[in-house]
Amino acid sequence: MTEQIKKDLEELSQAIGVSSRERRVVRIIKEKIEPLVDELKIDLSGNLIATLKGTEKNGPVLLLDAHTDEIGVMIRHISPDGFLYFAKIGGFVDLLFPGQTVILAPDDETKKTVIGVIGLKPPHITKGETKVPNPEDLAIDIGAKSAEEAESWGITIGTTGTLLGKFFEISNGRVIGKAFDDRTGCVVLIELLRRLSKERPKGTIVFNFASAEEVGGRGATTAAYQVRPAMALAIENTTAADTPGVAPQDCPTMLGKGPAITVADRSLIVNQKILEHLQHLAKKKNIPYQFKKPLSGGTDAGRIALVREGIPSGVVSVPCRYIHSPISLLELKDIERTCDLVEAFARTFHEIL
Ligand code: CO
Repeated sequence: MTEQIKKDLEELSQAIGVSSRERRVVRIIKEKIEPLVDELKIDLSGNLIATLKGTEKNGPVLLLDAHTDEIGVMIRHISPDGFLYFAKIGGFVDLLFPGQTVILAPDDETKKTVIGVIGLKPPHITKGETKVPNPEDLAIDIGAKSAEEAESWGITIGTTGTLLGKFFEISNGRVIGKAFDDRTGCVVLIELLRRLSKERPKGTIVFNFASAEEVGGRGATTAAYQVRPAMALAIENTTAADTPGVAPQDCPTMLGKGPAITVADRSLIVNQKILEHLQHLAKKKNIPYQFKKPLSGGTDAGRIALVREGIPSGVVSVPCRYIHSPISLLELKDIERTCDLVEAFARTFHEIL
């Protein structure tokens, strides 16, 4: 099972899908889940919404949400000599950019992806400058000799891309790569579809592979409105900070300690019944778990909870170090255990309605 999870994560996290430009990612997911589900659609917001009907006719509906988008860059200016200036899409730390390799995905899919670098002045010509440059002043060098050449490769104002990060398995079942936030959640949802389609739960489960979380939960909002679930869980990838220089009280989650159950973050204070039921299931099934310490971050669940008359919502996350960077690091076992916990929830959520 871990091998399948690793394969899915590598494939999905290496695809490029910046907010509202997720179709390359959506295509891969659609291909994997199409044979498993009863209904499948891509809505006007770019959400991929799949339905697995429960054994009970007209039974309650649980919405499971994982976002397909990743943070990235959008080209905002092409200089006459072919350098690309960019705007940030989503929450990057500014000191990350200098010296990075960038991959751009032309909207015209007949064109290939384009690789470039955010170059640094070599020490030979710097005058002792140590300040972190403003990303707005940085340019991507794609090797083009003119704006026309860049445009002939499909690069235009509005082209999106992200920082390149190769996928590697390192020691102890840990992997590094880009976009684990939230392709990890997508992997969990795909694995759940495999399990639940084999032995259906009582309730109906709607899976939303959500667009545009990183710019404010846009896809989750419109999907929740149309699905109208009785309850929802967002499956996320969250900050593990069990690393040098972080005090224990500032560490939201730790690697290898199992799924992180959110009590409260900046977007949501989790529904009490959901919180208790998740803990109850973890204990009953002997699944190691941890709490995500309040109050950092926010997720799609915060948006879903505010749709219509309010939808009881919770969050289960896979801990990940160096999140929102191209060298995120996580432990595959945590993904597997997250699947176990969310599967147990999907099979029993009707008990707490
Ligand atoms: Co996320």
